[in-house]
Amino acid sequence: MNTRSWTVLRRDGVSLVLAHPEAGLPAVLHWGADLGDLGPDDLAALDRATSRQTAPGTLDAAWRLPLVPQDADGWSGRPGLLATRDGRPVFPRWTTEVEHESGTELRLTATDADSGLVLRTAIAIGAGGLVLLDHEVANTGGGDLDVAWLEATLPVPKAADSLTQFAGRWTREKSPLTTPMPRGTTVRESRRGRGGHDAPWVTLASKGTPRNRDGAVWAVHLGWSADVRHRVDRVNEHLTAIGAGELVRPGEIRLAAGESYRTPTAYFAWSAAGLDGVADRFHTWMRARPQHPSTPRPLVLNTWEAVYFDHDRSRLEALARKAAEVGVERFVLDDGWFPARRDDTAGLGDWTVDRSVWPDGLEPLAGLVHDLGMQFGLWFEPEMVNLDSDLARAHPEWLLASPASVPSPAGLSFRTQYVLDLANHDAFEHVRSQMSALVRDLGIDFIKWDHNRDLVEAVHEGRPGTHEQTLAAYRLIARLKADHPGLEIESCSSGGARTDLGILAHTDRVWASDSNDPVERQDIQRWTELVLPPELIGAHVGPSPAHSSGRATPLPYRIATSLQGSSGFEWDLLSCNEEETAQVTAFAALYKELRGLLHSGTVVRPDVLDPALRVRGVVAPDRSEAVFTVATVASLEDALAERLCLPGLDPERRYRVRMRDEIGAARWGWVHPGWLDGGETVLSGRVLAEAGLQLPVLWPVQALLLHATAV
Ligand code: DGJ
Repeated sequence: MNTRSWTVLRRDGVSLVLAHPEAGLPAVLHWGADLGDLGPDDLAALDRATSRQTAPGTLDAAWRLPLVPQDADGWSGRPGLLATRDGRPVFPRWTTEVEHESGTELRLTATDADSGLVLRTAIAIGAGGLVLLDHEVANTGGGDLDVAWLEATLPVPKAADSLTQFAGRWTREKSPLTTPMPRGTTVRESRRGRGGHDAPWVTLASKGTPRNRDGAVWAVHLGWSADVRHRVDRVNEHLTAIGAGELVRPGEIRLAAGESYRTPTAYFAWSAAGLDGVADRFHTWMRARPQHPSTPRPLVLNTWEAVYFDHDRSRLEALARKAAEVGVERFVLDDGWFPARRDDTAGLGDWTVDRSVWPDGLEPLAGLVHDLGMQFGLWFEPEMVNLDSDLARAHPEWLLASPASVPSPAGLSFRTQYVLDLANHDAFEHVRSQMSALVRDLGIDFIKWDHNRDLVEAVHEGRPGTHEQTLAAYRLIARLKADHPGLEIESCSSGGARTDLGILAHTDRVWASDSNDPVERQDIQRWTELVLPPELIGAHVGPSPAHSSGRATPLPYRIATSLQGSSGFEWDLLSCNEEETAQVTAFAALYKELRGLLHSGTVVRPDVLDPALRVRGVVAPDRSEAVFTVATVASLEDALAERLCLPGLDPERRYRVRMRDEIGAARWGWVHPGWLDGGETVLSGRVLAEAGLQLPVLWPVQALLLHATAV
């Protein structure tokens, strides 16, 4: 088919070239490296160069992958849109108009009057070269239109021969698995009504197993906090397509005439510089958002593992005093403060203070915390309800459930809690007004917003309700933040089961995992950081042994792991001895010294050989300094450790590299590399990146913190 015109979008090292055919939706000719300025002749030549003949034994189709591929494109993969009208299939024939075009953004409206459809598409290259793709379909015909799915896809070269997908479980979120690229269509679904610990998270196509610092990688992430579908189509007549969309249940998106459905934004990152390049695109885009936290990320103490449900005013006040002494800046009271909440069987839904435990309310604690110069945070689980609550007794009809699943059959229960139907206006208002009153009366600075149960058989007014529930949760968060300027909110979901860019459009950080075992955290945080910059990733020092795994780890290691995120404690600091108190106090000071760099710099991870090593650095934007963590998660394979290459520094400048032993000493074998005598060395960025420093033979579960500063 002839091309009418082309659109070129370019930003931060990425080009996206689209061809507008005479009929139908535009096709992507190129998504990847910046192709430079392309004039009409270049574009016509590129068009010809990437056109192709009909393959033998296949349909006589145009063979270009339009933004929403369909059967009529000769596409045997998964369609981009699947919809039915009154049970009959809809096969759109689009007529496309460009509504807006700039060097970084294209907005289109495609219509099919016969099918009664309008499709609005926005594709943009944001800061960092991240590509954002949104679709919206409207029903302009008579009768209802059922949308089974509408998904975003982009083509990647067939040379992408490997596929990396994520899974996980509670306390072990975001575990990647790389396989050869499967043939045909591969779909990964999440049906938990929240991302889930095993959420698809990011789908990566790459040339070979993805490496940290080199190699081509194409990534997709969906900004949606409930059911999602990630997809890869490796069909033989086309380029491979990667993409994602919301998973909706049959009948969930039923559009009456005039109604429309908008997809969550799909985020696509291409990089020739491996996983670090992908992370850099996401981080740069996130940091450019107007709502990105701009104040120093406070050092947190969260009380969960310190006291669990055992709330006692004098003990918690003593903990607040100790936290302030150590240098904590935000004190967060976790679960257990509202009526009947002596364990996890009751109370959710009644957001008032339990006077049997807090006879004077929470005002004295909040007042003390503020007087000590700290922010006050409080835990809520606003989307949930226990049957044993005043709310459920008064309004059983506010549950988001099919009547048959209340009370839950064994397979459906979790912590005896249910989901509150926030798409019900009265339920929404009840929770909003109770929360709002507490935020106002206590001067709450921060909410830890938890979400602990999968949504199962979620039914709202007789129809599948996950989509509306998710939008209502976003609305509730947005409303509370609008009504209480400055209020910060953390997304927690039994740890890191809800960390996507949809929830982060409304919240300020995530709780990456309920595992405070720093060995597990090394990898959980590493993969969370593929999308989220470190300042958004809650990472706390817990006790040893860790409550979630029983593993004992040295305090310096726990501190080094916490410094890789938004730091804090998940620990009863009252139990610390003098030495530990001194060490955590030094950590607090070090965090405050380094966080400006740690929370604004470029994250780098040299590729290392030893499977027991985890090396990660943050390099200042002006490359004047960097901080690197070297950690072991097991014993090293070789008798001599490998050399540590420190990437990302200015090759022409010289750096003083020294150990920051405020975190406490690491232990290693008898070999003592010469550069560690005297505790520092001075070398150029080029030497540090290319020749590296000999590492000591670190014992298992030990960490070094190295600080490089330009001289
Ligand atoms: C699950 C969270 O992940 C924990 O941090 C804690 O807040 C508990 N819920 C409280 O019930």
